Amino acid sequence: MIPLSRPTVTEEMTRAVLDVLESGRYILGAETRAFEEEFASYIGVREAVAVSTGTAAIQLALLAVGIRPGDEVLAPSMTAFPTVEGILHAGAVPVLGDVDDYGCLDPEDAEKRVSARTVGIVPVHLYGGVANLEALADLARRKNLWIVEDCCQAHGALSGGRKVGSLGRAGCFSFYPSKNLTVLGDGGMVTTDDPELAAKIRLLRDHGRSDKHTHVAVGYNFRFNELQAAIGRAQLAGLEGYVARRRAIAARYDEALRGLGGVRIPRERPGTRMAYHLYPVRVADRATRDRLVAHLKERGIETGFHYPIANHLQPAMAGLGPVPSLPRAEALAEDEVSLPMFPGLSDADADHVIRSTRLFFGS
Ligand SMILES: Cc1ncc(COP(=O)(O)O)c(C=O)c1O
Repeated sequence: MIPLSRPTVTEEMTRAVLDVLESGRYILGAETRAFEEEFASYIGVREAVAVSTGTAAIQLALLAVGIRPGDEVLAPSMTAFPTVEGILHAGAVPVLGDVDDYGCLDPEDAEKRVSARTVGIVPVHLYGGVANLEALADLARRKNLWIVEDCCQAHGALSGGRKVGSLGRAGCFSFYPSKNLTVLGDGGMVTTDDPELAAKIRLLRDHGRSDKHTHVAVGYNFRFNELQAAIGRAQLAGLEGYVARRRAIAARYDEALRGLGGVRIPRERPGTRMAYHLYPVRVADRATRDRLVAHLKERGIETGFHYPIANHLQPAMAGLGPVPSLPRAEALAEDEVSLPMFPGLSDADADHVIRSTRLFFGS
């Protein structure tokens, strides 16, 4: 079976883990500090704070910017549910908007949803593509809102030559196994140019502790561990290579599927570098998608949906206010299917995916 995704595991990672095992220090030690410094330098910001998950990164970033209960935060409906959870766990009200042609928050639609209670925007760089940050930054300036980027799918994506995660008050990353950079388990990071924000997040991730026995805030256990920091550092050293390989596979898919009747390939926003966390294609409708998935499965190819239920229609959201109509997010939920995409995918396997997809569409 060709999987949808598979993390890169190297001997160097194995060795790094064994070294940590013998070190006697397992939580928030030298490896974590080094990973934070190297990650901050890669993203191009002053500070990075490692936390337990991407969801925790979003929650802590929002708490650190000063969310108060009832504050409203704009976010796209088409994202992983944890984006919405992070906002809710911070005590804010997620106001979900529709998406643009790239599957990211549509600035015009978002503007219509701004109210007197709106305090910020959480754009999501979905699929490793880049949200329309220029227009969202303009909206944020005009309405006096902050931006916290959800970069959980976009390690290594660029906007105007700058890394995502360096373009708002903070950037939030996930290191879940399928991500462009993984720690082979759960993990997350907040990036920011603001040392005060970083200090608040450091405090909150470790029980509000200012020193071993003094708790100056009621915080959380969202700490990071040394074994995964060691893996993260090795992955970070390989990240540009992984992104390049993802882009080469995307170019191969693009060339073979562009113009194929019945399929729309993902688009890279002008002025950006998409990091191709996923390779999402769109087909006519849900029935066609389900038949394509079955056809590919018969040929040993795994696929995925991102995401088949737009978040404003998730059962967990019932009772959290009026349900908006978001036709473009709802259409994406019906007709999107993701093809295998990971750095270790061989050209031969990518060609098998291409041939099988073309065959389905009668070509
Ligand atoms: C867009 C997006 N936001 C947030 C998250 C949450 O990350 P985690 O699973 O590490 O909590 C994910 C990952 O699932 C994601 O893809």
